[in-house]
Amino acid sequence: MAELWCEMVIVVLGIVFLSCGTTGSSGKTSSFVRSQWPSVDIPLDNQVFEVPKGRSAPQQVHITQGDYDGKAVLISWVTTEEIGPSEVTYGTSKKNYVFNAVGRVTNYTFYNYTSGFIHHCLLDGLEYDTKYYYKIGTDDSAREFWFETPPKIDPDAPYTFGIIGDLGQTYNSFSTLEHYMHSGGQTVLFVGDLSYADRYEYNDVGIRWDSWGRFIEQSAAYQPWIWSAGNHEIEYMPNLGEVFPFKSYLHRFATPYVASNSSSPLWYAVRRASAHIIVLSSYSPFVKYTPQWRWLQEELRRVDRKKTPWLIVLMHVPLYSSNLVHYMEGESMRAVYEDWFVHYKVDFVFAGHVHAYERSYRISNIYYNVSSGDCYPVPDNSAPVYMTVGDGGNQEGLAGRFWDPQPEYSAFREASYGHSTLEIRNRTHALYHWNRNDDGKKVPTDSVIFHNQYWARNLLRRRLEKSHSNSGGDQINC
Ligand SMILES: [Fe+2]
Repeated sequence: MAELWCEMVIVVLGIVFLSCGTTGSSGKTSSFVRSQWPSVDIPLDNQVFEVPKGRSAPQQVHITQGDYDGKAVLISWVTTEEIGPSEVTYGTSKKNYVFNAVGRVTNYTFYNYTSGFIHHCLLDGLEYDTKYYYKIGTDDSAREFWFETPPKIDPDAPYTFGIIGDLGQTYNSFSTLEHYMHSGGQTVLFVGDLSYADRYEYNDVGIRWDSWGRFIEQSAAYQPWIWSAGNHEIEYMPNLGEVFPFKSYLHRFATPYVASNSSSPLWYAVRRASAHIIVLSSYSPFVKYTPQWRWLQEELRRVDRKKTPWLIVLMHVPLYSSNLVHYMEGESMRAVYEDWFVHYKVDFVFAGHVHAYERSYRISNIYYNVSSGDCYPVPDNSAPVYMTVGDGGNQEGLAGRFWDPQPEYSAFREASYGHSTLEIRNRTHALYHWNRNDDGKKVPTDSVIFHNQYWARNLLRRRLEKSHSNSGGDQINC
């Protein structure tokens, strides 16, 4: 049935490439050039940054997954004039908030900026596949939102993720966010570089974090954004007396790192529907024996493809990119982790950092060492597909210069703004789109049907599982 479904989609869409990302066909460099809006931040008095009405009304509301398996949600918001309660009331019908949870509040200073009161509140013990309504704030300042929990962990649970990176707060950022919100995505996988507030060194770093929080609220208050950190979150500014890396980011964006036995909010894992998502930190120690290395080694062993067939890794710096900007900055992490990604048959590695889009074929370079002479990526069916989606639309503009000729590992590349969606259909197939912002329109530009690395690649395993199920084992629905 899955194969039949695939063929139908190909016919209907017409533009879809059937690709497993091996190689054998030459890559494509898109020549598309759009009329580019200026890469400047939207002025602070624009309505996209509007402060909600009411004294000390909760603002910058955003949610993320709060546990390992999707039965908890972490809700964060900021109040300004008064602390207000760190309390969320919630329920499964509108205006009927029968549950409550109490969180914690924090704040920080950055140079001459003092943040508002930053609240983080965990709602746990939730039901799967359920819509919850929630309220924060009090009296005239109270605000109401909703979110939907994912289906329970199941290998055939369909689910749609959006992938956004390097977003910033320009008119292009607004276009990306608006297009994503009409994409059907249920959770954002964010690949680092959030607000670009660090571009306001000396002035307004904190103010531009606040405006970005209000900007993304239209999506992030209603569905989880799974965070990973980029270089614009480091904010190491000794000239300002600010030497604690990730200070703003860590205060503002909570992650459920403890639930995956991580020792740092910067790297962690969650399972959601049929996906196991591993978040790595490009800017934290990752070489052998470091905490991140040891944690990743353990986390990869915990992955159970029979429960979560889709194995996804997020990081900021791409391991494979043929763009001239940031070229080979991910090489040190590639040298450390690539053989694990191949061994565990990771499906996708999503990254940002480079302000363009690129998709690789399934290739690896794990036989390379400084003495072997085998220094070229080669086709490898066990390797992930590497996607660079650093094209959210920030004030630094596009990275439009690629290596020429296009390397054999590069399947598609284009320097435009946009975002991606990954529609997981079942344990064997997922439909992927990179959607270009074409002025007012969202245009699916790179569309691929992916076969799952564990289930769809091993026909023998599927047949054995099927015969096992026919003899009384677990029912397998391929
Ligand atoms: Fe970056």
